[in-house]
Amino acid sequence: MCRTQAGVDMTGGGASGSSQGRELLPANVVPRHYHVTLEPDFEKLTFEGTVVIDVDVAEDSSSMAVNTLELDIRSAKVSSGGQTISSAPRVSRDESTQVSKFDFDGSLAKGSQAQLEISFTGHLNDKMVGFYRSTYKRPDGSDGILATTQMEPTDARRAFPCFDEPALKAKFTITLVADKKLTCLSNMDVASETEVQSKISGTTKKAVHFNTSPLMSTYLVAFIVGELNYVESLDFRVPVRVYAPPGQDIEHGRFSLDLAVKTLKFYEKVFGIDFPLPKMDQVAIPDFAQGAMENWGLITYRVVDLLLDEKASGAATKERVAEVVQHELAHQWFGNLVTMDWWEGLWLNEGFATWASWYSCNVFYPEWHVWQTYVTDNLQSALSLDSLRSSHPIEVPVKRADEINQIFDAISYSKGSCVLRMISTYLGEDIFLEGVRQYLKKHAYGNTQTGDLWASLSAASGKPLQEIMSAWTKKVGYPVLTVTENEEEGSVHVKQNRFLRTGDTKPEEDEVLYPVFLSMRTKDGVDKSLALNERERVLELPSGDFFKLNANHTGIYRTSYTPSRLEKLGKAAKEGLLTVEDRAGMIADAGALATSGYQKTSGVLSLLKGFDSETEFVVWNEIIGRLAGIQSAWMFEDKAVRDGLEAFLRDLVSPKAHKMGWQFSDNDGHVEQQFKAMMFEVAGLSGDETIIAAARDMFAKFMSGDRAALHPNIRKSVFTIALKFGGEQEYNKILEHYRSATNSDERNSCLRCLGRAKDPILVERTLALLFGGEVKDQDVYLPVSGLRSHPAGIEAMFAWMTTNWDEIYRRLPPGLSILGNMVMIMTSGFTTQDQLSNVEKFFVSKNNNGYDQSLEQSKDSIRSKVSWLARDGEDVAAWLKANGYSA
Ligand code: BES
Ligand code: ZN
Repeated sequence: MCRTQAGVDMTGGGASGSSQGRELLPANVVPRHYHVTLEPDFEKLTFEGTVVIDVDVAEDSSSMAVNTLELDIRSAKVSSGGQTISSAPRVSRDESTQVSKFDFDGSLAKGSQAQLEISFTGHLNDKMVGFYRSTYKRPDGSDGILATTQMEPTDARRAFPCFDEPALKAKFTITLVADKKLTCLSNMDVASETEVQSKISGTTKKAVHFNTSPLMSTYLVAFIVGELNYVESLDFRVPVRVYAPPGQDIEHGRFSLDLAVKTLKFYEKVFGIDFPLPKMDQVAIPDFAQGAMENWGLITYRVVDLLLDEKASGAATKERVAEVVQHELAHQWFGNLVTMDWWEGLWLNEGFATWASWYSCNVFYPEWHVWQTYVTDNLQSALSLDSLRSSHPIEVPVKRADEINQIFDAISYSKGSCVLRMISTYLGEDIFLEGVRQYLKKHAYGNTQTGDLWASLSAASGKPLQEIMSAWTKKVGYPVLTVTENEEEGSVHVKQNRFLRTGDTKPEEDEVLYPVFLSMRTKDGVDKSLALNERERVLELPSGDFFKLNANHTGIYRTSYTPSRLEKLGKAAKEGLLTVEDRAGMIADAGALATSGYQKTSGVLSLLKGFDSETEFVVWNEIIGRLAGIQSAWMFEDKAVRDGLEAFLRDLVSPKAHKMGWQFSDNDGHVEQQFKAMMFEVAGLSGDETIIAAARDMFAKFMSGDRAALHPNIRKSVFTIALKFGGEQEYNKILEHYRSATNSDERNSCLRCLGRAKDPILVERTLALLFGGEVKDQDVYLPVSGLRSHPAGIEAMFAWMTTNWDEIYRRLPPGLSILGNMVMIMTSGFTTQDQLSNVEKFFVSKNNNGYDQSLEQSKDSIRSKVSWLARDGEDVAAWLKANGYSA
């Protein structure tokens, strides 16, 4: 079934929350305790395993069904009360549901306890799912292999037979068998080590027995076997460590180590519950499909998201590492201790972890002003994706593995966290946190639905949250508020309608009325009491003629003002009447409304022009982002217009870039560093000659060995500028640097910019890198991202994708979100109807499982550009002419 259709159906108010159609295991037995033993074989790239599952028998049974995937079942046994019921149950398999069923002749009586024991062999795969292998270079150049796991959402079944559903929590007692010199890690600490005879080689190995875990879901189980170094801190109640394989400088784990200690202490206090496990390990894994994974007590990370060389990386990288570490640690409570009862509630995990990481980051690093960044980051990601017809409600029914994978998206993470930020603003942070503590305490070691959260928050606040919130999580989309004024009557009229980026909302898509907090800002402050629960409403025009809705943009909506009010708001911004969040949010709204036809794009250009004296990073970030959005929609339009847009951008940013300069010192604040870097890059890329010359100079010095000549904050910018205005020589130098650099962040900077080179031969070389053997599958999206910056790159990339589709599909199986990301990157740069038709034609005959949602979203975003260009093509050309940016 097509996910997108489900999304559209929901608009009309379909029955979310139904569990119908979910692929669930039969409930005749309930797992209580798993005893898992695993031994990886690094020669054959397989693993041998046995699992004994203690179950409670809920109904008289003569069969048991468990999830398995790509496991070879060697033998099985069913026993009860010390008696063997069956020493060879018949095994049958359902490939489509990934279930193995064991039938036996005897019967297990309801109310009894039983054991299912299974021996199996698995493949230590290289697809970054289940129990898989990761490879790395040792300092001496030799190759090393690490065995590690990634179970979420539904791949524990690849590592051992299990009841692979989040609500079926059980205890886990894990044993790993390995060479004595290897490190073995799992969720729990080590209980004991014994010597055993290897099932594989017959030699003596160690068996590392881990302590039994508390009740937990299968997707949080983890184990790792390999050569690992670590740094440790004993500043927390339990030991905290950061591990990395040889070839990584383990000292680069210090930042994350110290931050983890600080974060654990803080979350224990704020969430009111101690971290329940005996240790906390964080491990850098060289091949990792996501950014990180919150396995209880054993968090795994992509190398760049855990290890930080403060001397070789800039402020933005540091902020990313901090975000990821805090996010995964927040999951130790939100997700691990209290878990959604089914994937439909994924936002309870991801929305909460996202919110919590921002919350703690703001406390640890107040000077980073992360809640300001939030408005241009999470809020815009949420509003952007949720403006597409192919979006979905936060609580979306998901049934099968390939559907579950696709909801790890901006709706679950960003819209989910926006919902929490909205409630926390509405209730006040203290009451919100009190409700959160009650929720965690009540459901510790258990499973919840969204309603349980509302119940605890309602209990803490006395407010009927279920009513207020259900539209926000059960319905797709959000409203645009159209604000008109009647000066004679002194009134303001606000009306809500569903906002779609394509600007073509149909009446049947516009039936939901969202409860909107108006948060009107006037000269007297913010009125938090005003709400719009109906279609439209009339308010009193505040005295002094100044007002703005959605103060600080804590509400999930766009506001469309009349051109004259927007002009007044532009002035108000200059007079200091608006906060940073207000200014950035207002610009974002104006940009999005132009895209969808609520306003003219020329109006946005004029608004932005008036922001030339803006002083804040976050606001500039949004200005630049919106202009980049216009540029990419106009990607295939006349050169004169494209040049005009570039000239306008240059005029806007260059003076500021020169004023700030591109020298970095220890006195620069964290935000200032990113601000300078951004202005430098944008001015350079839009053709500022002085900056291009400076970039070339730094590039030459850096590439000839003078590392100090190029500050990490602008390393990527300088590479990008050098390539945009350079050729083969620069390309070769960057590629060479990629090959020789050891720092992962630095290597990523190289990959990210290669696609900027426009020469067709270089474009082909960039594409050839993808599966050429030297770029890890986890990184394939990096080189292509640069190709999106120019028409030839966008076209070549799609052509490459159509030719290499089978290989792409084989390497990046649908279970990996990378596949969806790649489809999105490689198609969504298009802007014309013909291009859209080509995309449709190509995919119509393909099996879209696992990426159908990304594909639909990409097509929707092309559609919105097609109509935007038809609507405002002339308007933009005329504005550029009138303002002297094109002849
Ligand atoms: N639980 C996710 C990891 C995950 C994502 C597993 C998708 C399976 C499928 C983890 O907590 C996470 O959200 N990681 C993010 C980083 C975070 C800072 C947003 C990631 O991987 O990018
Ligand atoms: Zn997460």
